[in-house]
Parts: sequence; structure tokens; C-alpha cells
Amino acid sequence: MRNSLIAPSILAADFAHLGRDVHDVLEGGADWIHVDVMDGQFVPNITMGPVVVESLRKDTVAPLDVHLMIVKPEQYIPDFLEAGADSISVHYEATPHVQRALEMIRTAGKKAGLALTPSTPIQVVENVLPDLDYVLVMTVNPGFGGQKHIPFMTAKVRELRRLLDTGGFAQIQIEVDGGINSATTLNVSQAGAEILVVGSAIFGQSDRKRAIGQIRQQAEQGQQQLQTH
Ligand code: DX5
Ligand code: ZN
Repeated sequence: MRNSLIAPSILAADFAHLGRDVHDVLEGGADWIHVDVMDGQFVPNITMGPVVVESLRKDTVAPLDVHLMIVKPEQYIPDFLEAGADSISVHYEATPHVQRALEMIRTAGKKAGLALTPSTPIQVVENVLPDLDYVLVMTVNPGFGGQKHIPFMTAKVRELRRLLDTGGFAQIQIEVDGGINSATTLNVSQAGAEILVVGSAIFGQSDRKRAIGQIRQQAEQGQQQLQTH
């Protein structure tokens, strides 16, 4: 059975107590820390830059997963690599130079991901499969935390899993991001999602350890069902 990874998104954390919140979710069983970078151009919102990754890097050994929702991501990839990112995803819709961006990340020995907004078809990954470690399937339109999960994206995850497995790229992981909680995890996991980004359904809870435990339980159940199909 493949392992599920839970990546709390700090977009939903309390920025006045970021270090405390990050330690809290890691002690509660989280695997990665997801960092949402927004530029006010690719998406309507503005969040954080490499300095935040740099500070977190000094404070934790946990993998830092950077999601770039910015135009021309290749301009900023070196800064995020230097700041200590372990994995970086770029949006297909944000640059005509996707392959170059992915190669920059890989050359630095880090994990490269391609992110797709809900309306982007999965076939766009086909020409960059050898450059990919994971595909990020957005299950909301990027820009804000706390949005409602789009259930139709479950079919997209399932088709993508099939495309990867039948194409000889079974090692490429699928990450889902947007409206993931204990109620939506089972379906996406069953469809083949392995990395679960969770913002409000973890940081917005008073008992975060319990929230992580419930999501993990649903994810494992989904993985088991995926395996027996
Ligand atoms: C949205 C971000 C997500 C967001 C998830 O653009 O990429 O990572 O923080 O937040 P929730 O889990 O609250 O939907
Ligand atoms: Zn994200």
C-alpha cells in the first residue's frame, strides 16, 4: 500500500505565532509543511515569499513543500531553493517554460511538482513526465483557503492516476489541495491522491492532533480500497 502524507497549509495558521503552530501540527502527526506563495497576479491574493521559508528552515527539519501561485515562477525558484524548500510546485497556467522550471528544481536535487487549476486537463502533464516527482491537482480554484471542495475533481485524480500508472510513471505522486477535510479525504484517496494539503480543517481546529488523526484514518481507508480495486 502507498503511504499517505498530510501537509498542513500554513496559510490557515496564525502568522503571529507561526513557529508555534508549525510545531503543533508536526507534533500532532503531520508529514510535510505546505507553503502557499501568491503574488496578486496569478491569483488575486498576496501571501508570503522566500523569507518565510528561510525562517521555517531554521526552525524545523520537516519537509517544506512550496506551492508557487505566481507568474513566471522560474524567476523565483532559485530564491526558494536557497531558502531551503524540499519540494516546489509550479502552475502549468503560470509560465510557457514549465519544463525549464521543473528542471531547475530537479537539478538542485529537490522534488518538482506541476500544479493544475481545476479547468486544466490532465493531458498537459504528458510531455513533462520524466521531469516530475508529483502532480498537484487543485480541488478548488487557487487563491484562498477555506473554499468549498469541488467533488468533480475526484474523477480527475482517478484519470490522472491511471494515466501515470499505464504510462510507466507509477512513482509520480498525486497531491490534492483545496477543501480537504475528514469528509472529503476518503474519495480523493480512493481515487489515488497520496499527498493531502489541508489548511482550515487542521489549523482551524482546537484539537489539531485529533483532526490529523481523523484525516489519516480516512486516507488509509481510501488507499486500502484503491489497492483492492
Ligand atoms: C489555495 C491554497 C491551499 C489552501 C488550502 O490556493 O493552495 O493550499 O491553503 O486551504 P483549505 O484546506 O482551507 O482549502
Ligand atoms: Zn497550496
